[in-house]
Parts: sequence; C-alpha cells; structure tokens
Amino acid sequence: MIGVFDSGFGGLTILKDIRRLLPEYDYMYLGDNARTPYGTRSFDVVYAYTLEAVSYLFSHGCSLIVLACNTASAKALRTIQQNDLARLVPLFPDGLPQKRVLGIIRPTVEAVGALTRTGHIGVLATQGTVDSLSYPLEIKKINPDIVVSQQACPMWVPLVENAEFDLPGADYFVDKYLRQLLAQDPLIDTVLLGCTHYPLLVNKIRSSLDTLTRDNGQPVSVLTQGDIVARSLKDYLFRHPEIESSCTKGGSCLYLTTESEQKFRCSASVFMDEDIDVHHIDL
Ligand code: DGL
Repeated sequence: MIGVFDSGFGGLTILKDIRRLLPEYDYMYLGDNARTPYGTRSFDVVYAYTLEAVSYLFSHGCSLIVLACNTASAKALRTIQQNDLARLVPLFPDGLPQKRVLGIIRPTVEAVGALTRTGHIGVLATQGTVDSLSYPLEIKKINPDIVVSQQACPMWVPLVENAEFDLPGADYFVDKYLRQLLAQDPLIDTVLLGCTHYPLLVNKIRSSLDTLTRDNGQPVSVLTQGDIVARSLKDYLFRHPEIESSCTKGGSCLYLTTESEQKFRCSASVFMDEDIDVHHIDL
C-alpha cells in the first residue's frame, strides 16, 4: 500500500488529489488526531511522533509513505531518511532501502517559482514549519531572486480539527493572519498554503484576500499542494519501478486514526464525499 500520514485531517486534502490522479493503488491513511496539532510542538516531539507513525505504516503493509504534513516534512523527514530508514526496512542488493518516505515541501517549492509575477511570495504555515525556515531556504535554492515572507497561523489547524472551518467564527482568524502576511510585504502576488489543513479554509482565504487587496489592482493567487504532490508522486513512481512494483493495485483506501473512529468519520464526512472505513489505532 501507499501510506499517507498527517497529524490529523489535513492530509486528506492531499490524499484526495493523489487518489484522483492515481486511483489504481491501495492506500492507508493515518491521522494522528489524538496528538494534533504538531505545528506548535518541538523538533524532538514531531520527529518522535512521525517516526512512530512511519514505523507503524511500514509494519502494516506500506512500501511507500507520503508525509502529507508540512510540519513533519520540515522537522522529521530528513532525519528519518538519513538515520532511520536503513534500520527500519530491508535493503536492496545495491544498499538502497526497499521502502521509502517522501515529503511534500520539495515538490511544492519546485512548483511555486513559476507562478509569481512580482517575485514576492507569501507562505502560510504552522509555527513549526515557519520556524524551520524550510520554505524560504528551499525556495531560495531554486529561485534566489524570489522574496519570501512567512506567517504562522496557529488557530487554523484547531478550526479544521474541530470542524469549524466553514463557520462564521473562522472569518476573524482568516482575516487576522492574512492582514499580518500582507503587512510584511504588499507586493505578494502568490500565497502558498504550506499546511495541508489550510485548503479546507480556502474559500474564506480567497474571499478575505480579495477584500484585503481590492485596491491594489493586482489579484493574489492562492496555491494549494494537493495537485502538486499528486503529480510529483506519479513522477516518482514512474522513475522508481522497484518501489512502484511493490505498491498493490486494488483501488482501496483504509483510514486509521489515533482518536475515536466515530469522531474521525464524523469530521471527515464534512469534506470527503464517500463512506470511509475507519479504524482506531494506538501508536
Ligand atoms: N497539516 C500539517 C501541516 O501540513 C500539520 C498541522 C498541525 O498538526 O499543526 O503542517
């Protein structure tokens, strides 16, 4: 199976696009809803939690895992790839691991440069992702001239996890963080949602941006990651037939949560348009 991991519901926004583009594979989604949010936690804690999730998915039939979580990608991916993978999974004769973990920051960064006209980008993300500086550093490696401003949005993940993202109460916090971002750099013309929970707020984000930039004469585009990650995964599978051939193809998807099944089913149903098979697990 292909494992897709997030601290909670956010990764479902990525899974949806992956399954739309690659429907033939079997998937296992794991949301660590009991311990969300990750975005306010230290490096060591995010790394430890992510490693537990990755180990679980590997030992339950996944040969490829997508960390559909920017915070985990920023804080845990590299250490897991460099220090843990060789210990957790068998190796091919050439010494490379037979199972892999992918993040979502690199493919996003590769796509973002082509979209800005002013060369000024805003990144909205969790405090952890912002503090890691992963986006500014990675964007600069590919596009040294792009100016990147970041804004942490600590209230947005709780709004999504508590199914408040579509309700009027969310407007205040959407507006607040967008104002803070635009105050850093009024030339921003592309806003990247650098947290997989945020696409659930995208309608409110678009309408708030429209209002805030109405007098600028220049529209601000909002970039979400689902499609980018899905296309990058397709490309990865094409380039790695040794991994692709170990991914089963039955079109199924199993959902796992560290919280209650009932709570997951109820919240996920707000934005998933199918009945889902959910199981509780302990990490
Ligand atoms: N959805 C995750 C991300 O993309 C993490 C959110 C959180 O748990 O704080 O960063």
